[in-house]
Order: sequence, then C-alpha cells, then structure tokens
Amino acid sequence: MIYYPSDDIIANANVKEYENTYQESIADIQKFWAKQAESLEWFKKWDKVLDDSNHPYYKWFINGKINIIHNAIDRHLTTEKRNKLAYIWEGEPGDIRYFSYYELNKEVSSFGNILKAMGVRKGDIVTIYMPQIPELIFAMLACAKIGAAHSVVYAGFSSTALADRIADAESKLLITADGGYRRGKVVDLKGIADEAMQKSPTIERCIVVQRTGHDINMEAERDFWYHDLKALPIADGPCKTEVMDSEDMLFILYTSGTTGRPKGVKHTHGGYALYTSFVHKTVFDIKDTDRWWCLADPGWITGHSFIVYAPLINGTTTILYEGAPNYPYPNRVWKMVEKYGVNILYTSPTAIRGLMRFGDSWVNRHDLSTLRLLGTVGEPINPAAWEWYYRCVGKERCPIMDTWWQTETGGFMISPYPITPLKPGSATKPLFGIEADVVDEKGNPVPPGEEGILVIKKPWPGMARTIYKDDERYKREYWSAYEKQKWYRAGDSARKDEDGYFWIIARIDDVIKVSGYRLGTAEVESALVSHPAVAEAAVIALPHDVKGNAIHAYCILTEGANPSPALEKEIKEHVRHEMGPIAVPEQIEFVTTLPKTRSGKIMRRVLKAKALGQDPGDLSTIET
Ligand code: PRX
Repeated sequence: MIYYPSDDIIANANVKEYENTYQESIADIQKFWAKQAESLEWFKKWDKVLDDSNHPYYKWFINGKINIIHNAIDRHLTTEKRNKLAYIWEGEPGDIRYFSYYELNKEVSSFGNILKAMGVRKGDIVTIYMPQIPELIFAMLACAKIGAAHSVVYAGFSSTALADRIADAESKLLITADGGYRRGKVVDLKGIADEAMQKSPTIERCIVVQRTGHDINMEAERDFWYHDLKALPIADGPCKTEVMDSEDMLFILYTSGTTGRPKGVKHTHGGYALYTSFVHKTVFDIKDTDRWWCLADPGWITGHSFIVYAPLINGTTTILYEGAPNYPYPNRVWKMVEKYGVNILYTSPTAIRGLMRFGDSWVNRHDLSTLRLLGTVGEPINPAAWEWYYRCVGKERCPIMDTWWQTETGGFMISPYPITPLKPGSATKPLFGIEADVVDEKGNPVPPGEEGILVIKKPWPGMARTIYKDDERYKREYWSAYEKQKWYRAGDSARKDEDGYFWIIARIDDVIKVSGYRLGTAEVESALVSHPAVAEAAVIALPHDVKGNAIHAYCILTEGANPSPALEKEIKEHVRHEMGPIAVPEQIEFVTTLPKTRSGKIMRRVLKAKALGQDPGDLSTIET
C-alpha cells in the first residue's frame, strides 16, 4: 500500500520536487552545499567547501569562521524572533516554563559567564549529566558560545558509564542536577554523579542545578549550586560568542560501537550547523508559526540535533518534556499536543508501540487537529505501528517522516520529504546531497529486494569528523570495509526495492538497539563479567513487541556459584548499577559452554539462531 500526501501538503511544502533536485545535488555536492550554506551567517566566509585530500578525515567550509550559537540565538535577537518562544518546557509534575529567544540568550549568557569564571576555556570539554530540564540546554549552548565543547551523558547511565566518559574527555568540570523526575519518583542524579566523581581524578569542580530539592551531598570547594553562582556578579552582563573555525569541535557524544568502550563521536560548528538545520527545515517542513515537539532526550543525538541546535537555527518553537510519555496516564503526550497546539511530532517506534498498547480511546479524547506532520526515528518501524500512528494519531492527514540516521551522521540521511509517497516501514529515499546504496561485501550493488549492506558514497557536511582521540578507530569502524571505493559503512543491513525505496533491516555489527537505545554487546558483556559469579557472558538481541529488541544474556558461572533466580536478580541489579537500566537483560540463561570460533570469538549468531529456533548456518569455524 502506498500513501500519497494531500494536495494541501504538497502545495505548502518547503520541498516541492525531489528527482531533479536530488540528481543535481549529488552531481556536484560542493555546489549544492555552498548554496545551502548561505542560509547561515558566517563571521568570515569559507575559502573552499570541501577538503577531501585526507580521506576519511574530511573537512568542510575551509577557513570559514562561524559559531553555531550566533546562528541559533544571536542573529534572531535583531529580528521579530526576539520575542518568539524558543522553548516551552513542561516538567513531569506539570510545572511549566517558557523562554523566548531573548530570554534564552540571557540564560545562556549568564551560564557562559559562569563557565568562564569557573575556568572553562576554548577547547575544553565539559561533561553534562542532567535531567531533561531547560538548564541542560542552557549548559550545552553556553559551552558552544564560549568555544568549549560539551559531552552530554544521558541521565539514564550509571556512575561507571559516566566516569568512563569523564575520563576519556578529561573533563575538569561536571554540570549536573540534584535529581530529576521519572514516573513520579525522584532520580538521585547527584548521588550517581558523586560516585562517578570519586573515580574521576580530572574533575575539579561541579555545578549543581536544583530541580527536585531533595537532600544531597555538596562537597565544599568542589560542588557549587547553580542558583548561587547565578546570583553573583560574575554571571551578569553579555557573554561574547567566540569566533570559531568551521572545523572546531562543537561536541562529542559517546555511542556504542563494535568493540569495547564507547566512542566519542566528534561534531563541529560549521558543517553540523548547516546539515542539521537544512534537513530539519526540509524534511519537517518547518514554518515560522510551527510548534515542534521532538520527544527524545537531549542526551542523545536526536536531542542534540533536533531539540537543541536545528530548531534554534531555524527559529522554531520547541516543546521539551521532562518525563515518561505515559505518566501519570497514557494520554500525557496527546494532552500536551492539544494543550500546546503541536504541529509536528517526532518520536520513536518504541514510544509509538508503547502508547498504542493503551488503545485508541486515550488518543481520541484529545483534539489533535493542529498536527500536520509526524516523524519516527531510532529503529525500523513495523507496519502495524506505522498504520496506527498514521490512522489514530494523524487521522490519515499527516505524512510520517521515517528518518534513518545515526549519531555519526549528525542529521537525517534517508527519509521522505512531505511530498514523498510513503510505504509503511520504509525510510524511502536518500535526502538531497546524500548518495546511499545497498551493496554486497565487495561493493557490488545487490539486486532489488535483496538484503545487503548500507553504504553512503559521498561525504556530507554533518558527518562525524572522527572518534575523539582515536582517529584509527574512526577509520577502521566506518571506512575500512570499502577503503578502495571511499564509502562510509553505516553498520546496518538494508534492501532497496524496485522503486528505489530503502528498507532498513537491522544492525550487522555487535550493536543492539533496545527501545531505540544503542548498546554494544561488548559493553553489556563486560558489565556482566564484572559480577564475581560470572566467568563468561554473551548477549544477543531477541525481538520484543514494544522495545523492538530485548537483551538476552548467556552466562557461564565461576566455580562454586550456583544458578538461581536470586542470582539472576542480583546479576541484573549489578548491570543496572554498572551501565544503567537500559542495559539490563530481559532474561539471563545460565549455561556451561558458549559457541566460539577456534580463535575464541563468541558466535552470537549461533546463539540467536538457536533461541529463535532457526538454522544456525555454517558451523565450520566452531570450536569443538
Ligand atoms: O540501526 C539504525 C537505527 O539506529 C542506528 C543509529 O543509532 P544512534 O546512533 O543511536 O542514532 C539514533 C537516532 C538517529 C542506525 O544505525 N535507526 C535509526 N533510525 C532508523 C533506524 N533504523 C531503522 N529506521 C530508522 N528510521
């Protein structure tokens, strides 16, 4: 079944035509991106659009001087956007705060002044560990404004995960909050941050934003209340937006890869500003009057790009919500759509499936007539969830933008525009400037309908520049598979149908997606084996109705340890403590052997096939 957009959507869309513009865009990517880059304000124009002389370390807008904050905030202050709402924030308990662009600038400037007074300098990396409150965004923007980079660690991560990321970034400053609200409970973030800071010798200072007001430990000379700092003269007055090079680091964001520790994906001021704002405006058809709601956490790339940077560059009004989408009742999202008159709603298949479970009546209680477009991201969306989203939420009026992209790509890569005819479950076609394909291991195109490896054949401005402090790993993980062709290997399998529509299938590396969250099997396994009773562990992803995938773990116990439900519970608790709730296995199976290759590598595909009752395939390399 193909779903066509209405005449109204087509007539008003920012993108009116696909095929010719697409062909033109990939025929000369430099020309295309140079033209788009005119929508930004540069302190000094670039000399050259792309430097591809040192593959795969591409550089964009060479010698251009810019700051993403000048584009996201400063330039709006002299226009009618000055008094427009930048953010409408709702806390889980129902408290509301509004910030115009004018007010946002005030907040970011005083945060920037405080950071400078605390010794943060251009080029430093500040780690941020915060709930979804406006100060999280102010902190990120303040770092960028003064030329520091931020490393936001998702507040669902544990103290160990936080400490690892602080150590890699060598942060001297941590910004956190006393706590946050989730499903009516207080999450003790400062307690977790304290544990992490004990293991983090680089940390000298910590700024603590008050959110919940519960009792916390404040260590003299290290910990400072944000509201105390804000009351001091150091916070007052304007704060200079630093002049940055296009290629200067804007942030690093840790994400899971195939091996061991998470990698800090690096993005920059110039290319990222252009790419995220361009795809946001074109795919989600952003209009001046729109109210945009991206239901992600700013602590992940979706939040960085589409709650923080792109909407601000486009001068959009963004809704930000602190808590769980079904709290206190399953109509929380629909109630907020009605209350704030949301025009565009962007969320994940897991959230859609989770809300779908409660039935149509929770949705139908609310007037959702302001909605014009819907979006989804993070994992493949199954047609049943797509149809429900389209019918029940969008009332068959709102096209669904199924956006395929990654932390490393900065912004959407394969996605419909509002004018694109839709097939449920397909992210449709590559966006302007993006040459994507599905190929075999040698790089030959696979026939229509057959599964292959997803590659991107040309660089794009929003691409990651490297893995922080690990250029080699960047090259190895993304570029070594198709070194000769100079193609980016995304790590997903996909197929392309006769109409050129892309269907993303799954990860083909040791990364698993649970509720759209990205986890490395190696990370979960090392959390498991750090429990004294676990000698060896292997984890796989098995299909789950709501989460898309759930983690199943296989553990070999150490001498003397005996399998029991109590031990299973204890090990799960241990993983929660080591990594955070998202990494806790659904089920742990105690086994005495694991299938391995002769070189000792665990054959997860064999475990998976067995669990699914499928043929495990070629077992010739298995250790016997
Ligand atoms: O497997 C793909 C899946 O999410 C991966 C990227 O994860 P992450 O870096 O955490 O970024 C998530 C938000 C952009 C991809 O390699 N993925 C993302 N979007 C889709 C998707 N799979 C299918 N359809 C999508 N729309």
